[in-house]
Amino acid sequence: MSKKLVKEVKRSYKAHFNTKPLMIFSPGRINLIGEHTDYNEGYVFPAATNKGIALAIQKSSSKKSKVYALNMQEMHEFSLHKIDALKDGGWKNYILGVVAEIQKAGIQLENFNAAFAGNIPSGAGMSSSAALENSFVFGLNELFDFGLSKKQMILISQKAEHNFVGVKCGIMDQYASMFGEKGSALLLDCRTVKSQTYKIDFKKYKLILINTNVKHDLSESAYNDRREACEKVSNKLNISALRDASKEGLNAIKNDISEEDYQKALYVIEENERVQLFAKAIQDDNIDALGNLLYQSHHGLSSQYKVSCKELDFLVEKAKVNPNILGARMMGGGFGGCTINLILKSEVAKFKRDITKKFKNEFGRDCSIYKVKLSEGTQIID
Ligand code: GLA
Repeated sequence: MSKKLVKEVKRSYKAHFNTKPLMIFSPGRINLIGEHTDYNEGYVFPAATNKGIALAIQKSSSKKSKVYALNMQEMHEFSLHKIDALKDGGWKNYILGVVAEIQKAGIQLENFNAAFAGNIPSGAGMSSSAALENSFVFGLNELFDFGLSKKQMILISQKAEHNFVGVKCGIMDQYASMFGEKGSALLLDCRTVKSQTYKIDFKKYKLILINTNVKHDLSESAYNDRREACEKVSNKLNISALRDASKEGLNAIKNDISEEDYQKALYVIEENERVQLFAKAIQDDNIDALGNLLYQSHHGLSSQYKVSCKELDFLVEKAKVNPNILGARMMGGGFGGCTINLILKSEVAKFKRDITKKFKNEFGRDCSIYKVKLSEGTQIID
């Protein structure tokens, strides 16, 4: 995590509130594979990163709570007596949502002051929103001794996003951000909400992210529409979630659903299989098998699930023709954000120069490239 970020947040908190804060760091996440499977109660394979949200928070004796967003240089003051989502509330709704969901759980909350900032590029598909939600629920739990478990906390974060932001997200982002482990990825079963930890060592290869800088906005209805389509198909199949669907079962109802919905459900079934194969390949140290699964995942997301965009497709196409890249795919909700790439360590610098130029030629704009460090989940720091 960036010490500079933490220092700046602490300084900003002190300048505004002049008490000693509790410091929290909550990371964003990457996802190796398993996209749009979480809300289908399937499998995902995410990891927490070293980029995230730093939060300074402390109890307050005043009649209102105050939160300062350092990146935006905006202060928000609110009363705990009546919490509603704000129209175009942006960052505020994530925090108000967490506060409201804590109250809904029957917990008495007192006033607090907070300042926060983050270094996850917004719209990159690295879950700055889950990091923000988790930082607040974790900080408030610690400050006021609610005694919530980490699992209870991530469910509060998820509900905040459902009810205050309007994105009917799954549990992957909040889980990875809360439970992340250094140098590891988590094979998460989104039905039981339990994970297995996999130490990650790609040997000669490493992960890099390439941000299209096309900002995805999940609150656009496209994300919720995908979820609805999946639920429609699982209702038709008479199962509780697509996690339980088989290709045979899906084929049996093919004529009763649209071709689009058929393809989406097929994608989910296949992506769940890919997650299992990916985990097995890691276990067997079969690095070469990973690349194909990444490319297949992207193909499904782009042509079946239809959550990619031309910039993401371009980056994956360019990766595919480069023999130094084992595999690549779009990562996260889609419609913009990053691709995740498994690339030969020795070739990173050259590829960076090359892809930056090609992307600029094609779109007249820059892409950004990030290193990835698999890190610990939400924690108290200092
Ligand atoms: C977003 C959501 C997650 C998950 C991914 C797609 O990040 O918040 O719950 O559905 O999209 O895999």
